[in-house]
Amino acid sequence: MEIQRVLVADAVDSACVKLLEQHSIQVDCKYKLPADKLIAEIKNYDGLIVRSDTKVTADVIAAGQKLKVIGRAGAGVDNIDIPAATAKNILVINTPGGNAISACELTCALITNLARNVTPAAASLKAGRWDRKLYAGHELSGKVLAILGLGRIGREVALRMQAWGMKTIGYDPIVPAEESKKFNVESLTLEEIWPLADYITVHTPLIPETRDLICERVFKSCKKGIRIVNVARGGIINEVDLLQALKDGQCGGAALDVFEQEPPTNPVTLELIQHPKVVATPHLGASTAEAQVRVAVEVAEQFIALTGKSKEFT
Ligand code: NAD
Ligand code: MLT
Repeated sequence: MEIQRVLVADAVDSACVKLLEQHSIQVDCKYKLPADKLIAEIKNYDGLIVRSDTKVTADVIAAGQKLKVIGRAGAGVDNIDIPAATAKNILVINTPGGNAISACELTCALITNLARNVTPAAASLKAGRWDRKLYAGHELSGKVLAILGLGRIGREVALRMQAWGMKTIGYDPIVPAEESKKFNVESLTLEEIWPLADYITVHTPLIPETRDLICERVFKSCKKGIRIVNVARGGIINEVDLLQALKDGQCGGAALDVFEQEPPTNPVTLELIQHPKVVATPHLGASTAEAQVRVAVEVAEQFIALTGKSKEFT
């Protein structure tokens, strides 16, 4: 495949550009292009590389007269209109796994944070208060962690939280029980999981089957005080229902790295972020030095492999 010019539309580690240029591919980095500017620019490029900020819509794809490949430096491809790309024979590639440990580690940090009220307690102390009673927490040891989605990230979370003494249960439609047993996760149905869980963490893609996976009905089936973590994708947990469950006390706390709209401007998400029982981070799951270099190199290597030039340079 001939790839002469590539547009990098989101801030991907410089290792990506360096590698592509070493293989005689011309690269332009133009970040935060408004949709109309991206549509105007894309006609000049054979390849496009994005993270999650740029929305590669059907209009962008239609305007890509020479576009042959779209690379996602990361796992989720929900910001790319795959059917539109497929209809034009444009290849969509991603780098699953490159940031899995980083996303897993943030998930574990958020679970432990929720258990011990680290974020609100630290903010309170910085504000000059000394409130030990208000921020007393609970131990994770002996608590039940339900993991929905037992792929790359879900299973790493299981292994780490088992070291904290948590019992891990989970659900994944394509991971058989014998497989999940290998990483000590008891495979159960969703209906079996709801009343058992003390914590639920979601690690699925956002697809029609997982949209609103955690909703009002689910909150009602869970133990009072259930804690919820989402480092996967906004929309897997229904934000309106989560806010209501927090207000009712049915949900005892939530940690959110991802939102239905990013950056969020809608009133429900903004209220959620401000809720005292919510710890929120701005989509930081993959934001580590290690993960960013890994996904940058992986996406560049895939582009180079497509040109057939890999061997010339090794
Ligand atoms: P993966 O593909 O390795 O695993 C996802 C798993 O979800 C699969 O095993 C799949 O069978 C399972 N699944 C699909 N539908 C399901 C359903 N209805 N119920 C339960 N499980 C279901 O993906 P991954 O690399 O582990 O990533 C998981 C999620 O984390 C993705 O949404 C990805 O985009 C997101 N992610 C977020 C960040 C971040 O910065 N916050 C970083 C990396 C990945
Ligand atoms: C992903 O799906 O890989 C994450 O959302 C991380 C990113 O922002 O690239």
